[in-house]
Amino acid sequence: MKQIIIEGKNKLSGTINIGGAKNSAVALIPAAIMADGVVKLSNVPRISDADALTAILKFLNVDVNFEEDKYTIDARNLQNNVIPEDLSTRLRASYYFMGALLARFKHVEIYFPGGCNIGARPIDLHLKGFEALGATVTKDENNSKYIIDAQELTGSDIHLDFASVGATINIMFAATLAKGVTKIYNAAQEVEIINIAELLNNMGANIKGAGTNVITIEGVEHLHSASVSVICDRIEAGTYLIMGALLGDNLKIMGIEPEYLQSLLDKFQKMNIKYDIIPGGIMISQTPSFLSTDVKTDVYPEFPTDLGQPMSVLLTQASGISHFEETIWESRMGHIKYLNMMGANIEVNGMKALIKGTTPLTGKEIVATDLRAGAALVTAGLIASGTTIINDAEHILRGYERIINKLSNVGAKIKIIDC
Ligand code: EPZ
Repeated sequence: MKQIIIEGKNKLSGTINIGGAKNSAVALIPAAIMADGVVKLSNVPRISDADALTAILKFLNVDVNFEEDKYTIDARNLQNNVIPEDLSTRLRASYYFMGALLARFKHVEIYFPGGCNIGARPIDLHLKGFEALGATVTKDENNSKYIIDAQELTGSDIHLDFASVGATINIMFAATLAKGVTKIYNAAQEVEIINIAELLNNMGANIKGAGTNVITIEGVEHLHSASVSVICDRIEAGTYLIMGALLGDNLKIMGIEPEYLQSLLDKFQKMNIKYDIIPGGIMISQTPSFLSTDVKTDVYPEFPTDLGQPMSVLLTQASGISHFEETIWESRMGHIKYLNMMGANIEVNGMKALIKGTTPLTGKEIVATDLRAGAALVTAGLIASGTTIINDAEHILRGYERIINKLSNVGAKIKIIDC
């Protein structure tokens, strides 16, 4: 088990360079197996989710090379083996191999995906999309493995009950090599989807409307070699901006698109938190006293659910009462009890939290329950007096590239140990 140990209250000053977006990279990597040539990805973050996908690619006999931020994938000799449970459960994004393998082979067998413990995390919308394209979906006798088959895939109009990011992307994969035109209505509009459609179109696909709520995919015969750069990680950037609002001393967060963070920057303005847009990034310093505000997470471009947990820490330091509501995941409050142990004053009621600030925090030994809960606890440890020990820190390494180095380099007293 990995432990992160933080000595709190150290200013953060200098530059943090933001890496490629986890939630784009984990879809771009499986997408590459649909090409009958070499696919090159750049700006891929060095995170354990990428390593987990590499393991699946190698299991499928894909030639993959991951050096620094460069990912080279040659799936021409791919063997469509059953993706085993120990690989598929290491991350949620293993489900993207469903759409990619179904598109290429019209058959896929894969065990249920894994991922953060933040709710039931069904994939019914993905499966309904595949069925709308002509596939049949069955489960094995142990109800733990999906078997998806199609004589052929035929374009169709698909209306998503919820603007699901994963379902939008997975259906886009399957539709890319289907016969005819597919329209996805109520499609997710997250910026990562634009990045993924960019790679698919570079590979020869015909996709229009990515980033809007209607995506049109005209099926093509085959996909070829291509390359793409992973867009910047808006959630990583937002997490460091929140830390900067609490402890920054002209902290520069570089390599980001402020427009991807507008919902967070709007909250900063409402809270009287100061920041400067500078060429290539944002510079931010601690705002000694700032206002409380209300936060309700929702699909893009509203306030992202993945920033909700780090944001709740900022709200503990705001003057007054903040109302927080999570609307995407039903159990994304795992970090609150630990924040309260550290001195926060947060009342949770289902997916809502009443956060009373300003409450000084004191370092404690706590546990990361999921990726973004872990990021929230790191944020709390950085501002707490004394020492904070975060157990199960592996969760954090799934989505924050070199977080210990990035924070140490700007003055944080933070380390990670195996124990
Ligand atoms: C992606 O998850 C992200 N993960 C999540 O980030 C993020 O929180 C989420 O999108 C929302 O932005 C990756 O991209 C790997 P959804 P995904 O399908 O695609 C329900 C992080 O911290 N739903 O948009 O799984 C579901 O239960 C992670 O980086 C169905 O009911 O999210 C949830 O309530 C956490 N049926 C809502 O939709 C389905 O078939 C959002 O799910 C699919 C989803």
